Amino acid sequence: MKLLEDRIKKDGQVLGAEVLKVDNFLNHQIDPDLMTALGQEFYQQFADAKITKILTVESSGIAPALATGMAFHVPVVFARKHKSLTLKDDLYTAEVYSFTKKTSNQIAIAQKFLQADDTVLIIDDFLANGQAVEGLIDIIGQANATLAGVGIVIEKSFQKGRKLLDERQIKTVSLARIKAFVDGQIEFEEED
Ligand code: G4P
Repeated sequence: MKLLEDRIKKDGQVLGAEVLKVDNFLNHQIDPDLMTALGQEFYQQFADAKITKILTVESSGIAPALATGMAFHVPVVFARKHKSLTLKDDLYTAEVYSFTKKTSNQIAIAQKFLQADDTVLIIDDFLANGQAVEGLIDIIGQANATLAGVGIVIEKSFQKGRKLLDERQIKTVSLARIKAFVDGQIEFEEED
């Protein structure tokens, strides 16, 4: 998506060999017009899938997930990473290991927000090693709901998440795909 790639080139900062800082428009300060455009693009890509729910993980997945939910006019559910005072209902949970942070987190959603007749689109800000998405897919399986696909704002194709999803034949749409960081510069994959 050219709009997004241009914004990454303008405002993204490469940190080391693997990390892209995009706190100017996605991870800290959020650009609502850009989020709206991303949500519309995910809508175009999954318009035929009869989506009934958008699923993400707090916190940085929430902005693009909400924009996508607004395009589809369906509810947005975000998995929580921290125990909440009010999250006492029956829960679906999954363990998510972060290779980046070398810690394991439990993610949880209340069972009442995911039903067997739901068709779910997962949205997340980054696809790196794919562990957060795997956790969400696990939860969708626990609910016997249907996974329609995965929408990612920024994919780092050189990490293993994309391969994991392709191996499972899951439709994955990434709006920007980064092939590599070379000398602080961002190389994007060619668009299909
Ligand atoms: P994975 O889910 O694909 O396996 O990701 P990984 O463990 O490698 O990453 C852990 C956290 O770091 C995730 O956010 C993920 O979105 C984020 N992340 C991964 N690569 C990048 C990157 O290049 N740039 C930035 N800015 N973030 C990256 P999180 O811990 O869930 O944080 P948040 O959603 O609360 O912000």
